[in-house]
Amino acid sequence: MSAPLLSIDGLSVRFGGLVAVDNVSFDIAAGSVHGLIGPNGAGKTTMFNLLSGLTAPTAGAIRLDGVAIESLPSWKRASLGLSRTFQNIRVFHEMTLLENVVTGMHPRLKEGLPAILSRLGSFAAAERHAREKSLELLEFVGLVDKAGHRAGDLPYGDQRRLEIARALANEPRLLMLDEPAAGMNPSETLTLVALLEKLKASGLTILLVEHDMKFVMRLCDRICVLNFGRKIAEGGPADIRANPKVIEAYLGAKVARGLEAGA
Ligand SMILES: Nc1ncnc2c1ncn2[C@@H]1O[C@H](COP(=O)(O)OP(=O)(O)OP(=O)(O)O)[C@@H](O)[C@H]1O
Ligand SMILES: [Mg+2]
Repeated sequence: MSAPLLSIDGLSVRFGGLVAVDNVSFDIAAGSVHGLIGPNGAGKTTMFNLLSGLTAPTAGAIRLDGVAIESLPSWKRASLGLSRTFQNIRVFHEMTLLENVVTGMHPRLKEGLPAILSRLGSFAAAERHAREKSLELLEFVGLVDKAGHRAGDLPYGDQRRLEIARALANEPRLLMLDEPAAGMNPSETLTLVALLEKLKASGLTILLVEHDMKFVMRLCDRICVLNFGRKIAEGGPADIRANPKVIEAYLGAKVARGLEAGA
């Protein structure tokens, strides 16, 4: 097996008396879609905050291509190619969709502005390039027709896809999605699955937190299950939906039977 893109080793964080993530270890293989599931409060979003640098771990290591990144600030991790979306959508309401996506390019620009300028010749050319690339990303997520609209006017499902476009603008190596299908209707969810399948086919590595189990089982190559901050299971979708510990803590026997039937 090839070396993991991201390696999480004994990661913990304590908030006062609560250990929100407790000695969790797992690897994310390059090019895979890795699911992170578990009941409300299990520590999934906290794990995203630890990986993206918004929360400092109490213990443990995070390695990107074997290099420790757990002490780096979040902007530096973004510039290395970690991109995420938020469970509580964070788009800039007063900006247009296009402007929102352009902001997603900044972590990379910060690192490589001289290189970009020497390649493109001038700020004007760099700006043109950023606009063109952002329009391509809006096209990819199906929002190019609304490029000039105010982001705050978008329906919920569209805002989630806008956030994905913005995260992609950073040319991520790892895209972390925190409940991307939350609040979407069934047809929006299907569109989103198709979009993520395209990203997967392009070789992008994805870490996915999601409560929609059909969505998770369809997309993920491997799944980790958290409960009260601890990893209680890890494996392929078939193993996870048959795992008694996962059924007890999260899926419930009924849901698991439904997933078997629908698999
Ligand atoms: N900054 C914080 N300070 C104190 N407690 C926190 C903080 N962030 C998260 N928690 C607690 O840590 C636990 C894990 O929360 P987290 O948001 O990671 O869960 P989750 O698995 O994402 O749940 P959900 O499925 O509801 O989004 C919860 O008990 C939460 O209240
Ligand atoms: Mg969460």
